[in-house]
Amino acid sequence: MPNTLTIVDNRTGQSYEMPVTDGAVRATDLQKVRGTPDGAGLLSYDPAFMNTASTRSAITFIDGDRGLLWYRGYPIEQLAERSTFLEVAYLLLHGELPTAKALEAFTWQITHHTWVHENVKKFIDGFHHDAHPMSMLVSSVAALGSFYPDARINHDPGHRDLQIYRLIAKVPTLAAFTFRHSVGRPYVYPDNELGYAGNFLSMLFKMTEWRYKPEPALERALDVLFILHADHEQNCSTNAMRAVGSSGVDPYSAVAAAAAALYGPLHGGANEAVLRMLKAIGSPARIGEFIRRVKAGEAKLMGFGHRVYKNYDPRARIIKRVADEVFAATRPSPLLPLALELERIALQDEYFVTRKLYPNVDFYTGLIYEAMGLPVDMFPVLFAIARTTGWLAQWQEMLADPEQKIARPRQIYAGPARRDYVPAGQRP
Ligand code: CMC
Repeated sequence: MPNTLTIVDNRTGQSYEMPVTDGAVRATDLQKVRGTPDGAGLLSYDPAFMNTASTRSAITFIDGDRGLLWYRGYPIEQLAERSTFLEVAYLLLHGELPTAKALEAFTWQITHHTWVHENVKKFIDGFHHDAHPMSMLVSSVAALGSFYPDARINHDPGHRDLQIYRLIAKVPTLAAFTFRHSVGRPYVYPDNELGYAGNFLSMLFKMTEWRYKPEPALERALDVLFILHADHEQNCSTNAMRAVGSSGVDPYSAVAAAAAALYGPLHGGANEAVLRMLKAIGSPARIGEFIRRVKAGEAKLMGFGHRVYKNYDPRARIIKRVADEVFAATRPSPLLPLALELERIALQDEYFVTRKLYPNVDFYTGLIYEAMGLPVDMFPVLFAIARTTGWLAQWQEMLADPEQKIARPRQIYAGPARRDYVPAGQRP
């Protein structure tokens, strides 16, 4: 049987055959379909990209119905159990797990690019004490690009690699500086003796001790959380990274745009929103009233639902285990019983069952970050640290893809027909 699609245009009676490749038809093939010989070609209309593939990608595979998430073919469960964040970062960027030597070289590069220019501290100092850390991160990542004019030479793989090392290395430094600024503490410089997550914890929490010693359970938990958040195919922020990057801008500006997309409460801001929601509910006795408001459309159950996962989010399962390990090393979150009860009730409620709404990655991450001593404002920042790697892997793939061009969707114009300008005094 031919791998094609035949479309009959009932306006003209004409039929068109178009190839089906990898389960997709090319939207540009639809242009051949014309209502009149000189009429415009058919467009596909897809607000919010509900059924449009914008790229071919070899990085991340998701099967939302079966709850599968693979990075470069490796199931997320295996990577969370056995790998490290830097190894996963290498995998996402290069397509294969590194040899021991390649991992050592990659780790050296990331470790030795963590410092930022001293002037960076000055612009973080300029923020108000209660500035949201995501605002500070978005702005400071964009500003960081101004320190590296060579970052605009995107066509050179050597230059690209250098910017990738710098961004993966420096985003945690900027993130930690935003936290220290918020709480009025001096900035802590990176410690090259520590691992990626351990160094980040040191930059967050080091006080007067000579050398900060991260608690191993928390360091590993953070590393696993970074693995789980590292990439998630064409989500809102990755789409922003690719769209902005497609103009040929430097990767600092594109990462800033992606981080801005992540900041929204429907995306990376959800973990923050979950904690605020749990605090607002306050006690298990008030869950019933909250669920009633959700069903009436007055509120959303944050941390539930996903555009792709309609069965369960595999990251949420791993996170529940990580949460237990973190709470064993710290103290259980007082909000944990409330979260568990809310999850239990929602999973039995016909509203959530029929809409296939399950806990997503963000339902429990907020509780873990809180137990680590981080304020809610910092939660999306942690997400951004991990996702920087995915954004860069996707950006690199986009630049190397001969099919990609500057991203420029079409529209269906729904405004007024042509009309003539009327001076202000003569307008009705
Ligand atoms: N609480 C209550 N109702 C919901 C929720 C929710 N969390 N999510 C979806 N619905 C309802 C929605 O109102 C709609 O109902 P109806 O058919 O009656 O109109 C139905 O479920 C389908 O929802 P949708 O809005 O069409 O689904 P979507 O794919 O456009 O949205 C989502 C996905 C993640 C934006 C949404 O589920 C949501 O807003 N969840 C809460 C925010 C959240 O936790 N975001 C984190 C996502 S995971 C991290 C990441 O990758 O960014």
